[in-house]
Amino acid sequence: MLKAPMNERLVRVQRGTPMGEAFRRFWLPVCQLKDLHPGGAPLEVRLLGEDLLAFRGPEGDAGVVDRFCAHRGADLRYARNEVGGLRCIFHGWKYAGDGRCVEIPNVPEGDRICPRVKIRSYPVESKGGLLWCYMGPPEQLPPFPVLPWMSKGEAHWSGTFVQVESEGNYLQHIEGLCDGSHVGFLHANLQGGGGGSRFVQSAAFSDRTPQWAYLEDTIYGAALAMERDAGAGKRNLRLNQFLLPFSVEVPTPPPYAVSSWQTNIPMDDERTMFLYTSWYDPEPVEELRARVGDRSYEIPALQPGSYKPVLNRSNAYGQDRGEFMQRQSFSGMRNLRLEDMAVAEYVRGGLVADRSAETLVSSDLAIVKVRARLLALADKLEQQGHLREETMAVASHRIVPAEMDIEPGEDVAQRCRSAGVSNVELDREFAVASACLDSTYRFV
Ligand code: FES
Ligand SMILES: [Fe+2]
Repeated sequence: MLKAPMNERLVRVQRGTPMGEAFRRFWLPVCQLKDLHPGGAPLEVRLLGEDLLAFRGPEGDAGVVDRFCAHRGADLRYARNEVGGLRCIFHGWKYAGDGRCVEIPNVPEGDRICPRVKIRSYPVESKGGLLWCYMGPPEQLPPFPVLPWMSKGEAHWSGTFVQVESEGNYLQHIEGLCDGSHVGFLHANLQGGGGGSRFVQSAAFSDRTPQWAYLEDTIYGAALAMERDAGAGKRNLRLNQFLLPFSVEVPTPPPYAVSSWQTNIPMDDERTMFLYTSWYDPEPVEELRARVGDRSYEIPALQPGSYKPVLNRSNAYGQDRGEFMQRQSFSGMRNLRLEDMAVAEYVRGGLVADRSAETLVSSDLAIVKVRARLLALADKLEQQGHLREETMAVASHRIVPAEMDIEPGEDVAQRCRSAGVSNVELDREFAVASACLDSTYRFV
């Protein structure tokens, strides 16, 4: 359980809150690049409680700016998207991608006022199929994170992201991803295996009382490994990586043995945007899909023009309590993402969970670890005024998740380190990154 003041520290993401400030020290995913058309409609983005617009100008240059016009607050989602910026359709004021007002055409004094007018804007990067932005103090701009799937080359990762808007505070959704014990229940197929309407065989479904074998705080987040009985005297180990500020890397069981990056982006305190992509080393993802059948994460049907699913809390996520739930699916739901949403959106206390009356057990140890890691992040920012080491570790690491068999008595910590948590390598890369950055970045 978590007392109310600690819970408040963890869940609030607005500017000026401990977690909101910590998150603003990292590069954050904003949206998929494919959803931004050069010269097209700006995309509404709600990020850490701020109303923003993402757009690409007619020449392809991207920007993230405040959603509302500095003049009388008209909604810039309707703005004309011109070369050199967005023009408000109310009185024609124009803003460049960096937020500067460059034209006030409706009054004689426009040229004189213009240099003093600005809307909020954030630095952006277009990488790995996503638009990213940095919302923190300019003097603490961190290096851009090279995540494992980005360094593989596009053929080896899924360019089609799953993007689904959920209700509920971000932490509830992260906790779901870090909780290996739910998989054998929530996502189970009653005829064996799992995946709701799908069928995947894995130790995650055959051993439903797994144990945490390795939980470690790291500079980049936390390493979380769960051990299961894999039958025939074998033990199975699944290593998830929690990456600051709010992503989790997860291995997927064979035959579709891809790894995935799953992030739960806080839109505000009560809404979360889920983004998922996967990567595979040995061959291009498309070839793997064709060979084993497409078992990629299923996107639930979305409402037109939005990332909100058609099946949601208002219609019980389409739960089918008839034959389907009696004979086939543990949850009675037909989509893995909807299953996760059903248990994380609206929990005790509402859309922001009250954690003061939980009954935590050993399967919840990873959740405790992740909460503590996030609280430590906020503490460090308050005490030292920067998150230099953390942002650099995320930027320079080569951390991957892993699924493996282990022998009885094997040193699990050592195995995890060599399979995915290469701390030695991390330290070495961190030292290199530090040396490079010392001369480039000033931290107050
Ligand atoms: S409100 Fe945008 S130009 Fe007047
Ligand atoms: Fe799940």
